Amino acid sequence: MTSTSTNKTSAIELVIAGDLAGVGAAWISIENGVPRWSTVDDPVGAWRQALLVGAMPVREAVRKNLSVLMTGEGGACELFPGVMAIGCVSETRRGRCEGVAVLPTSELITEGSLSMLCNAAKVDETVIRGFASRDALPPREAIPAITDLVRRLHVSARRRIEEREAAHSVDRRLSESYEELHLLNSLIDGLVVGGDPGDFLVSAAEELAATAGYSWIAILLDDPGASKVDDFVVHGSGAPTRAEVRLIAESASTSTATVVLDPAFGEMGLAAVRGGDRNLGTLVAGGRAGEPISSIELTLLASAAGHLGVFLRNAALYSDLDAMFLGTLQSMVAAIDAKDPYTRGHSQRVAILSRDLAAAIGLPEAFVKTAHLSGLVHDIGKIGVPEAVLCKAGRLDESEFAAIRQHPQIGFRILRDIPQIRDLLPGVLCHHESWDGSGYPAGIAGEEIPLLARIIAICDSFDAMSSNRTYRSAKPRQKVFEELRNCRGSQFDPSIVPVFLGMDFTEYDRLLARDADGFGLADDRRVA
Ligand SMILES: [Fe+2]
Repeated sequence: MTSTSTNKTSAIELVIAGDLAGVGAAWISIENGVPRWSTVDDPVGAWRQALLVGAMPVREAVRKNLSVLMTGEGGACELFPGVMAIGCVSETRRGRCEGVAVLPTSELITEGSLSMLCNAAKVDETVIRGFASRDALPPREAIPAITDLVRRLHVSARRRIEEREAAHSVDRRLSESYEELHLLNSLIDGLVVGGDPGDFLVSAAEELAATAGYSWIAILLDDPGASKVDDFVVHGSGAPTRAEVRLIAESASTSTATVVLDPAFGEMGLAAVRGGDRNLGTLVAGGRAGEPISSIELTLLASAAGHLGVFLRNAALYSDLDAMFLGTLQSMVAAIDAKDPYTRGHSQRVAILSRDLAAAIGLPEAFVKTAHLSGLVHDIGKIGVPEAVLCKAGRLDESEFAAIRQHPQIGFRILRDIPQIRDLLPGVLCHHESWDGSGYPAGIAGEEIPLLARIIAICDSFDAMSSNRTYRSAKPRQKVFEELRNCRGSQFDPSIVPVFLGMDFTEYDRLLARDADGFGLADDRRVA
């Protein structure tokens, strides 16, 4: 016997045929009014299938009587003496199911059709006769009862198949829901405020491609705005170019998500990236090698685009907040400048030097940013030092030294309660500590001194020596370098000094020239 394929119709055939074999009937399903003559693996009813479905006269007789057999809930008729056909018709939620059960009665042997059918089906009559005798075929009179049984079996088999399909459908939906949750969870994991928006877009594209089976993902932003990301992110190969994505997005002009068919790129999912009521861009996904995008997958794409929109909007807000925060710090530093004109520009110059030194050492971007901000506010404690001491032109006495030496702790106390700048505190508190332990306020040494403070200490001294003071002129660059080298291992971290000396001072020199128009400037190295 030939095994049927495993498509949906065949699964139905298998189940119904299997059930009907139990009452001695072979099954022929009818699709759109056309009989399917496929045979099924059924060891119990094998001889019936071979004889009744394989014989051309039976097929012709079924075709000829089809209208009668498919009437109402199904009719019944005798195709040949000893061969009955029972039409089965059932309406279900999934549509109409039709078929014909063909079964032999005991008259097949007694009334002579057997030889003709064996001949037509090209099966051995002796073998078939043996099977037929063994199976004790029902008499013609039993057909009404068998018809009722056959129809009941047909309906129940059909119902079982539908229930199984419904269970598979739930399984599939659960699986798709899991994929959606997995993706959304991954996206949410990446939604770190202050994280790099560009990195987030790239990882979101990767995650979406892997979860939903796209070969490529393209994200085109209309206006990256304050979030400072690349406006075109592509993951995978075979994606459209920036210009092509723009054309696709314009032609679709969707406000949510849709499937578009493009001659060059095939079927693509397209979703709008929205932040609040603004359209921020478009997410396009494709390259599924002919596999259609389901409505659930489209929902997934829309969810992903929604998350991208939220993230980009938050990134822009965060960027605004960051800029506002920096502005606030700069205002605080300006307050020190106003109090002590000799330090004008010093904090800003130490800030850029600390930033550049951290970058030159190879520290992470977040640390580089912290070094910049900490350098900017390192002397903020001078706000708490009396102006008469801070601005005194001559030498300071012991008590005045002591007052100025308080500024790291004062700065620390000013800033310590602001959670957003907690990272800057080590630079503020420890920038007057020395590598050999001779500094203040704690007198700690070596790597006990936070790296941030060791960086700022070098930049602070460099600027103090490079700028004019009221009581002496700026030292030449080579002289300053020599001084830094001499203090390696005593005042400064010996491993950082060479890195500092190799830096580019172009931006620093420009700031120094700008600030030197007015007063001299210096961190007060008189107390260092
Ligand atoms: Fe200082």
